[in-house]
Amino acid sequence: MSDAHYWMVAAESRALHAGAVIGRRICNVALVLYRDPDGTPIAAPDRCLHRCGKLSAGTARRGVLKCPYHGWAYGAGGRVVAIPSEDAAGPFRLPVYETCERDGYVYVRLDRGVESAPFAMPHYRARGFGRVRLVNVFENTVTNCAENFVDVPHTVSVHPGIFRQARAEKINATVAVERGEVRVEYFGERTNLGWFAFALNPRGLPVRHIDRFIAPNITHVRYEIGRSVFLITSQSVPETATRTRVHTELAWRLGALTPFAAPFVRIQGQRVIDQDKRVLADQMDVIADRPGPFIDTSADLIHAHIHALRAAVEAGEDPAALPSQRSNIEFYV
Ligand code: FES
Ligand SMILES: [Fe+2]
Repeated sequence: MSDAHYWMVAAESRALHAGAVIGRRICNVALVLYRDPDGTPIAAPDRCLHRCGKLSAGTARRGVLKCPYHGWAYGAGGRVVAIPSEDAAGPFRLPVYETCERDGYVYVRLDRGVESAPFAMPHYRARGFGRVRLVNVFENTVTNCAENFVDVPHTVSVHPGIFRQARAEKINATVAVERGEVRVEYFGERTNLGWFAFALNPRGLPVRHIDRFIAPNITHVRYEIGRSVFLITSQSVPETATRTRVHTELAWRLGALTPFAAPFVRIQGQRVIDQDKRVLADQMDVIADRPGPFIDTSADLIHAHIHALRAAVEAGEDPAALPSQRSNIEFYV
């Protein structure tokens, strides 16, 4: 098993509209995406069969993708439907990859052979929820991105004032590894949530905070305060070994504020992501220059588990086969 055996987000459904041609790199494979005449997403190597024209620089009309070089045309299933210099189309066909569509994302699976399903986006289309989706390219590995997305201690220094203020408050958490998933439940968090506190917790109620990493590439952060819910779900797709395209969904249920929160969440969410992009790009520069071992403190146990699951994926093993374990940690933020 490797990343290539799992369903990876290739594009948002709305971005791959009829007539769109999208170039993507997933697990170092250059892909072209378009919709065939039925609207089915087609993902194929970004390489014309004729003489290696770049298909993603072409155009698509009525489900037919045209190579920008000599105009070979590709239709349903990647079949060549026209060769301008010939009478007939010939028996040619692009070696297409498996695609599927779920919860507003188009997924591609490069390698078959393992039973897997795309991640079900939590509360997708649920009533009373608002959502915003952001796409960002991080100059770092899937592992270090996922680690960052469920890392609590960095929020104080990387996102000062936005997320949390440093208060040296003790936080307790249980950390469990089971069936390819790391699940962290925090105890003792109250109103120390920076600007989120205003919308999420005006009355200072107890905070329920659960973070999950689901191998190979999903992180899910969930805050529940009374009836209010705030969720951040990220799908980290490896473009290359050190570059990751991240699809982030921010979703919320905030009672009467729900319909008005989108512009605010989009701006603040992107601000937070930009701060993480900078710190992660710098981290990758340092690692590229001089890789070294990490030191794990008690708060880093979460990351040690994520690294172990990712290492299993990268070694071609099944991360769900790792032994289950459970521990309690405490740290200060
Ligand atoms: S290279 Fe694509 S049509 Fe010739
Ligand atoms: Fe962050």
